[in-house]
Amino acid sequence: MSKQKWLITGGAGYIGTHIADLFIEAGKDVVLLDSLYQGLESRVDYLRTKHAIDIPLEVIDIRDYAKVDALIAAGNFTGIVHTAALKAVGESMEKPDEYLDVNYTATVELIESAKRHGVTRFIFSSTAAVYGSPDSMDPCREDGPTAPISPYGSSKLLAESKVTEFISIPGNHGSSLRFFNVVGSANSALLDNSVENLVPIVINKVKAGQAPVIYGHDYPTADGTCVRDYVDVRDIAAAHLAAADATQALPPTMNIGTGNGASVREIVKFVLDAMGRSDVTPIDADRRAGDPAFLCADVSLAKSAMGFTSRYSLKASVESLF
Ligand SMILES: NC(=O)c1ccc[n+]([C@@H]2O[C@H](COP(=O)([O-])OP(=O)(O)OC[C@H]3O[C@@H](n4cnc5c(N)ncnc54)[C@H](O)[C@@H]3O)[C@@H](O)[C@H]2O)c1
Repeated sequence: MSKQKWLITGGAGYIGTHIADLFIEAGKDVVLLDSLYQGLESRVDYLRTKHAIDIPLEVIDIRDYAKVDALIAAGNFTGIVHTAALKAVGESMEKPDEYLDVNYTATVELIESAKRHGVTRFIFSSTAAVYGSPDSMDPCREDGPTAPISPYGSSKLLAESKVTEFISIPGNHGSSLRFFNVVGSANSALLDNSVENLVPIVINKVKAGQAPVIYGHDYPTADGTCVRDYVDVRDIAAAHLAAADATQALPPTMNIGTGNGASVREIVKFVLDAMGRSDVTPIDADRRAGDPAFLCADVSLAKSAMGFTSRYSLKASVESLF
């Protein structure tokens, strides 16, 4: 069998580089595409050194459809892992059109290009944000309601529908993977540099000499703070490998989480402990609009469909950041 070659969009990003790392380890060739808007070539350099190979990085905006199409036409790709996106929920409220362009319209064009050039596999980075702010204290199931409350979540839900159309074409294969809260790192060179995720926020606050803030302490949860499903980025990469290697048809959407909830207060404590700063007391602030009390994954579908279960504990994920 000839060596598989995968195009990873957002390939210089936090999750994209972790996927590339695992795909290379599994014997696949990868080509990375990234505008370097948030991506870092230093992450790719780390992978180049680690694996002692040249890893092509195509610096292209996915909205530059002609360039993307030329790359795919010439690439002879087995499949596409599509992680490139804008992902800041708050920013998406201010720039809904840009989020729609990058996250939805560019995905449609990418899929059309894949179809034109015989690429039959497509794995899409979706998000728990498609579930919005459920009232329920039950884990989210893929066949349950979707009700995004941000342009970010809506753009991903719309894009999912195009991925579903693509994989329903006979001979095509893939899925939209709905990641919950991604945490951890395989190496300090690959750390998440985003400003919106709880763990980096807490770390940066403490490093700046400030106390982290916990929004809402009167939710109907065990300690009164919101409960989320934190999944290690190395598990996210493993889920992509399982999806890429699956020979059976996959469900159109699959939750990728741990199935275990952790409260914001617990997370903050894990981070403070890992930093050796148990002396810091978090500040309790009012609830933020739109934050559901409980947002965790029902993970049974990814397990039954492709044998995927998460391996990293939250403690191990947080400790991997130091
Ligand atoms: N990190 C999380 O907790 C999380 C949770 C759910 C879903 N996701 C999804 O996972 C994917 C990867 O997220 P991440 O955490 O690695 O974020 P990231 O910002 O590190 O990676 C996204 C990459 O896409 C690139 N990009 C953005 N706009 C682009 C454009 N127009 N053209 C080409 N490249 C562009 C960025 O430069 C960046 O390298 C995203 O689709 C995100 O929506 C992330």
